[in-house]
Amino acid sequence: MLLRHAVPEDLPGLLDIHNNAVKTLKAIWTDKLDTLEDRTTWFEERTQAGYPVFVVENEAGDVIGFGSLGPYRPKEGYRLTVEHSIYILPQARGKGAGGLLLEKLIEVARGQGYHVMLAAVDGENAGSIALHLKFGFKSVGRIPQIGVKFGEWLDLVLMSLVLDDRVRPPQD
Ligand SMILES: CC(C)(COP(=O)(O)OP(=O)(O)OC[C@H]1O[C@@H](n2cnc3c(N)ncnc32)[C@H](O)[C@@H]1OP(=O)(O)O)[C@@H](O)C(=O)NCCC(=O)NCCS
Repeated sequence: MLLRHAVPEDLPGLLDIHNNAVKTLKAIWTDKLDTLEDRTTWFEERTQAGYPVFVVENEAGDVIGFGSLGPYRPKEGYRLTVEHSIYILPQARGKGAGGLLLEKLIEVARGQGYHVMLAAVDGENAGSIALHLKFGFKSVGRIPQIGVKFGEWLDLVLMSLVLDDRVRPPQD
C-alpha cells in the first residue's frame, strides 16, 4: 500500500468513496450525494486552509481510501483542535489502510501544532471506535440520539487524542 497526498486527478475516485459511504453507512450523517464539483470545492477549501488530504493506493495503484484533517468548529477558540475523517472502500477494509491514514494524520496534526484531535463517531461503529482506541484516542463522551439516518436515532461518540503536553496554550 502507498500513502500519498491527494491530487485533483484523485477526485472522481474520492467522490465514489464518499458517495458509497453516504448511501450505505451510518458513519456519515447525510443522505445528500456529492457531485464532482462539490468534492472539488471541498478539496480546494481543505488544501487552501492548510488541511491535508491523503489517499491510500493498493498494489494495483487504485485509490482505496482517503483521510483528511479539517476544522472542528469555526469559532477561533477551537483553533488548536482538528477533526479528521477516514473512509476506506468496503472491499479494502480490514487490511491496514485506515490505520496507515490515521497514523499519518496524527503525525501531521502534531507537526502543525494542533493540541487536540477529535473523532466524532457513530455509536454503533465498532470498527472505527476500535481503530481510534488502538491509536491512543480516548472515548470522552456519548451523546444519545443526536442524529438521524435510515429511520433511526443515532448516538455520537466523541473520541479525543491530546497531541502534546503543553500546560498552557501558546500566546498569540
Ligand atoms: C473504520 C475504518 C476507517 C477502518 O479502516 P480499515 O482499513 O478497515 O482498518 P485497519 O485494517 O487499518 O485496522 C486498524 C485497526 O482498527 C481496528 N479495526 C478496524 N476495523 C475493525 C472492525 N471492523 N472491528 C474491530 N476492529 C477494527 C483494529 O484495532 C485494527 O487493528 P488490528 O488489525 O491490529 O486488529 C474503515 O473500516 C472504514 O472506512 N469504515 C467505513 C467508514 C468509517 O466508519 N469511517 C470512520 C468514520 S469516524
